[in-house]
Amino acid sequence: MPSRIFPINKSPIVVAHISDFHIGSYHFVANLMNRTVLELNELRPDIVIVTGDLTNEGFRQEYMTAKSYLDGLECERVLVIPGNHDSRNVGYLHFQELFGPLFQNMEWEGILVMGMDSSEPDLDSGQIGREKYGRIVDYFHSASGFKIFALHHHLLPVPGTGRERNIVFDAGDVLELLVYAGVDLVLTGHKHVPYVWKLEDLYVVNAGTISSLRLRGHTKPCYNVIEIREDLVRVFRKYPFGGRDVIAQFGVGVSDTQRELSGVAREIIGSDL
Ligand SMILES: [Fe+2]
Ligand SMILES: [Fe+2]
Repeated sequence: MPSRIFPINKSPIVVAHISDFHIGSYHFVANLMNRTVLELNELRPDIVIVTGDLTNEGFRQEYMTAKSYLDGLECERVLVIPGNHDSRNVGYLHFQELFGPLFQNMEWEGILVMGMDSSEPDLDSGQIGREKYGRIVDYFHSASGFKIFALHHHLLPVPGTGRERNIVFDAGDVLELLVYAGVDLVLTGHKHVPYVWKLEDLYVVNAGTISSLRLRGHTKPCYNVIEIREDLVRVFRKYPFGGRDVIAQFGVGVSDTQRELSGVAREIIGSDL
């Protein structure tokens, strides 16, 4: 893997991570959604990443409302991926018409982002799928920038969410590939409970919901703001109408992880081992 020098002309790069609007749900609060858009326009992030469940049932009118909110963002780089609710009722067709492909990449100022659909039509559970593993490794492994992988479903259990369910079916294989490819940050949603795990050199950051009161316990609506400098990354949790807390802070180095990979990873990566 090449050395991790990625020139940033503008520092810090600011990435906003919002998720789980659930427009159309009884629990959707337009005031929270409007406030988040307003706060982001004041923050002026370089990139906005939306990790799914924009809609509650995947209906076209819900999608149109979601698009009108996102069109209000004064940000040139907005990457959107669908969640399980967006794929209900064949809603992924509306997603593709209004937001583009179900898998999207974005590069800017040394930051690489890959957003990947993990939803399965009309199921709450999801997967990445073996056929996409090569795409992940090809995109990230030889790159030297700061690497972000975004999907809707969580890859690791999230505390405070009751009975564990709906981790992507192939979470183990995906995590191994992401670590191998040198991914720095995984952004997910789905559970409406924010959390951060560190696994090897990988930070896995789950977002809360910004605008739904379908919450667990005492969790509040929130979103994430990530500041990326060449030597330091800070992840903040921001509450609409409220303050923000630092929830993770780390340097970006060269991974020295050396160990045997599983059969699946070996099959994907081939002779590189
Ligand atoms: Fe959700
Ligand atoms: Fe979800």
